[in-house]
Amino acid sequence: MGRVVSRAAVLRQAVRPKFRPAGLLLCLKRIAGFGLKSGKLPCAGHIIALRDLVLVNLGAPAAKAGGSECVIIMLKIASRMERLGTESAFEILAKAQTLAAAGKSIVNLCIGQPDFPPPAHVIEAGQRAIVDGHHGYSAAPGILSLREAISADLGRRFDVRIDPSSITVTPGSKVALFFALQMLGEIGSEIIYPNPAYPGYESIIAFSGATPIAYPLSEATGFSFDADDVLSRITPKTRAIILNSPANPTSGVLDRGELDRLAKGLEKFPNVAVISDEIYSRIIYDGHAHFSLLSYESLRDRLILLDGWSKSFSMTGWRLGYAVWPKSLVEHAVKLAINCHSCVNNATQYAGIAALEGPQDTVQAMVAAWGERRNIIVAGLRALPGVRCTMPAGAFYAFPNISGTGFSSANLQARLLNEEGVALLSGTSFGSLGEGYIRLSYATSTEQIEEALFRINRFLVENMESRRTAAVA
Ligand SMILES: Cc1ncc(COP(=O)(O)O)c(C=O)c1O
Repeated sequence: MGRVVSRAAVLRQAVRPKFRPAGLLLCLKRIAGFGLKSGKLPCAGHIIALRDLVLVNLGAPAAKAGGSECVIIMLKIASRMERLGTESAFEILAKAQTLAAAGKSIVNLCIGQPDFPPPAHVIEAGQRAIVDGHHGYSAAPGILSLREAISADLGRRFDVRIDPSSITVTPGSKVALFFALQMLGEIGSEIIYPNPAYPGYESIIAFSGATPIAYPLSEATGFSFDADDVLSRITPKTRAIILNSPANPTSGVLDRGELDRLAKGLEKFPNVAVISDEIYSRIIYDGHAHFSLLSYESLRDRLILLDGWSKSFSMTGWRLGYAVWPKSLVEHAVKLAINCHSCVNNATQYAGIAALEGPQDTVQAMVAAWGERRNIIVAGLRALPGVRCTMPAGAFYAFPNISGTGFSSANLQARLLNEEGVALLSGTSFGSLGEGYIRLSYATSTEQIEEALFRINRFLVENMESRRTAAVA
């Protein structure tokens, strides 16, 4: 919205002007021309008008020269925007791409994105849906056949019966997370979430107006959680607890015994919802099966389950996710969808059915390949000076403890990118308790993993040695 401001304000706005020589020359000619034509000295009004003209040509933002008032554009942004964070993975990726474009050799382990194509039959189903004419809007919660396929898939995997009417399909599970937090959070309320964790949790909780209350995930328990500790953080203001298993960035899997204790303890708090982010549910190692929170019948009326196709079917860019809602929240989820995205890309939804109902061998092969890379990266990290690393139980991230190197997480992230061309993420990108850790995605080739390990080792050997020498001197 335009706002009328004083000339002094315009002057203050012109702090870092962009010099436009042609425009300025024109101004000077006009000043000279005025004197010659009128034979008089210019009055104060003329001088002010001409000054404004000069300011415009120096780059003063949107100032209208001449007249007694200047209008500059000053957009007023809602204060809630200050509470919205970001994901540093995208920032580091952009920096890495800039360095690569400038000719630096970059090894990229920063982004949580599978390095395999989606299964061929899924791509074919998406193409066929386009050819078959699925170009229009679909129902806002998603096409019924996809919601039935999700219900059947959950039944096969977890032996649960989920009514397709409790499911909504969203453009990525992140959108369902956003909806859940906007539905439950508001100023004066609290939402409990893990730290370190996916950065969207803290950011979107804060955006809703609720206060984010963190509970720690600690290395000592394989990055599981302490149910009593979580329950002790519940207050009358608590609206929800977020759980994520297998987890980003720790790759930990929540301990079944602790989940049982949490489910039992929650009986005393019937107003507290549980948001269970199970986006990595198919990526789990060592023959373990994923345990879904859907298995607790006692939680069903308060559980929001999030999952999707991004990680398990290597479909990050297709933007396809879903949520299973308690009956009382479905209508709100549908209303949010109608107001936000109308529906998910129609053809993509048909690809989603093929992914769930078709052969699962591509997914199994992908997980097996990541399992092998997990062993390579963990062994390599454990051999680095000052580094120790737990074995990931799921997902595709290594989250080594680097506190023995003497570097802070952010410093190590920046120096490895700038000096060695290794793009990875500081543990602090995932919350304050990520200090002392870095995250490396091993959803990349073995060659890239080995090259990254070589470069990190070279950096640590050189720099830890020079730090020691400086300390002794
Ligand atoms: C824990 C977790 N939840 C949710 C998401 C969002 O996934 P999408 O929106 O692609 O389904 C991610 C993506 O990295 C994640 O790591």
